[in-house]
Order: sequence, then C-alpha cells, then structure tokens
Amino acid sequence: LIAYLNGRFAPLAELSVPVLDRGFLFGDGVYEMIPVYDRRPFRLDEHLARLAASLAAVRIDNPHDEATWDTLVRTLIARQPFADQSIYLQVTRGAAYPRNHAIPADSTPTVLLFADPLNPPAAALVEQGVAAVSMQDPRWQRCDIKTTSLLGNVLARAASVDAGAVETVMFRDGLLTEGSASNIFTVKDGLLLTPAPSTRMLTGITYDVVLELARHHGVPLQIRPVSEAEVRAADELWLTSSSKEILAIVSLDGRPVGNGVPGPIYRRMYGHYQQFKA
Ligand code: PDD
Repeated sequence: LIAYLNGRFAPLAELSVPVLDRGFLFGDGVYEMIPVYDRRPFRLDEHLARLAASLAAVRIDNPHDEATWDTLVRTLIARQPFADQSIYLQVTRGAAYPRNHAIPADSTPTVLLFADPLNPPAAALVEQGVAAVSMQDPRWQRCDIKTTSLLGNVLARAASVDAGAVETVMFRDGLLTEGSASNIFTVKDGLLLTPAPSTRMLTGITYDVVLELARHHGVPLQIRPVSEAEVRAADELWLTSSSKEILAIVSLDGRPVGNGVPGPIYRRMYGHYQQFKA
C-alpha cells in the first residue's frame, strides 16, 4: 500500500513519525476520510473545504492550496491496486520540544495520506438494517471540528461494540447530536428530520448529500432540533457517513424502531444515493 508522508510517497509500513509529534502527544490534528468509487473521489472539493475549515478552527496553517491537495489525493488514488478506496488524510501540528500545551510558533505540520479498500455496507445490511444503542454525548463543545482527538467518539463507540451493535446514537441536553462516527436522521409520518449543523456535531459530507437529495426528490424535510423522545418514537432512523453511506437503524437500545425493518423513505433515499454516487 503506497502512502504519502510529508512530501514523499512510500509503502505505508515504512513510514513513521517522531514521538514528539503533537498529533501523538496531544491529539493536536485534524483529518478527513474521503470515499473513492472506481478511482473517482466522491465530493473531494467539499472534503477539502471541510479540511480547510478544521485547520483554521485549530489554528494550523493549511500546508497546501486546494489544487495541491487535489493532486496529492488523485496521485495516491492512481497508485493503489484497488479501484474503490477509502482515503485517510491527516494533518497534525507537527513535532515540538519541549512538550508544552502552548501552540509552538514554528512547527511544521505533519501531512499523512493513505488508502484502504472501501467496503460499503453489504446488501444484507442494507436489507435488514442495523442495531444501535444510545448514550449521553460525552464529548467537548467543538464537535464541528474533524479533529483526531477522538477519545469521546472512541468511548461512545465502545458502548455499541459491547452491545454487539453498529453505532452509538448520542444525546445532549435531551437533544439528538449524532452517532460516534455518523450523522443521524429520523422519519416521522413521512417527514425527514435532522439537527442543523452546530458545534454539537460534525457536518457530514454524506449528511449534506442526503439533504440535497431530499430537496431534489421532494422528500418533506425539516432541519431543526430533534428531541430524544422524537428519536425513540420515530418511524425510521438512519445513520449516514462516508464509509457506511446510509444505513437504517432498526433497533435502538434493544427496542424496535418503527416496524423494526428499513422503512420506505430509507429505501427511496438509499436508491437515490446509489444513483448519485455512480
Ligand atoms: N466519520 N460525525 C462524526 C463524529 C464522524 O466521525 C463522521 C464521519 C460523520 C459523517 O461525516 P461524513 O459524512 O463526512 O463521513 C459524522 C468518518 C467516516 C471517520 O471517522 O472515519
């Protein structure tokens, strides 16, 4: 697997970073995960725009302009043996000594990209849906930044792993925020509902695509706060992400969502998404 680190392409297994890298010591970095279908990166401009926003939010100077990022990503894609890929892209603040919380004046960002084979959900998962559990959102107040500081997300995900479920749906102050690594939509009486972008969630690229498709295909839609009670009473519950696309959540905390099978609006939207990404 050919990867990229700080200006050179090399086999992933040969790459290493200094232990003083602030990504390692502080989780001081940001990332993107970009799906690639048949060697075509999906919504690359939007991913690069979100990367730029994350970098600005954590005060790391963007090491590349958009054209350079675009070339880097496409070069990496071309060098993989497989056509459907998941591109992981990470920028940390780089190494600095001595260890100190204060942002160093002169560190050089560490830029890492690598590719994995992309495995969108199998047909059986799409047909049957998945189980999720819920918990209070344990994270900080800037969940809009796609940072590598993911301990809250990791612990949230652990709850669903323990339960043999696929995702953990989180609530804060009685309101739906998002999943540990996905955004969440509900359907009630034919109306698609999802929270508006805020500092309490990451604005997913897939989330934006689903909203666009809903508008384009005339699916009734409201973007507004969604209460925990509304989630528990929903006819349909979905999760969206670059790796999972759109999946129906058919049980939450062991109780069926709606009829306990993927609903009609889900099936429509899944079809629209498959067409759109092709
Ligand atoms: N995660 N919310 C969180 C907390 C996420 O980690 C992700 C994606 C999303 C969905 O964003 P998008 O649609 O842009 O993938 C929402 C990626 C897949 C990851 O961590 O690898």
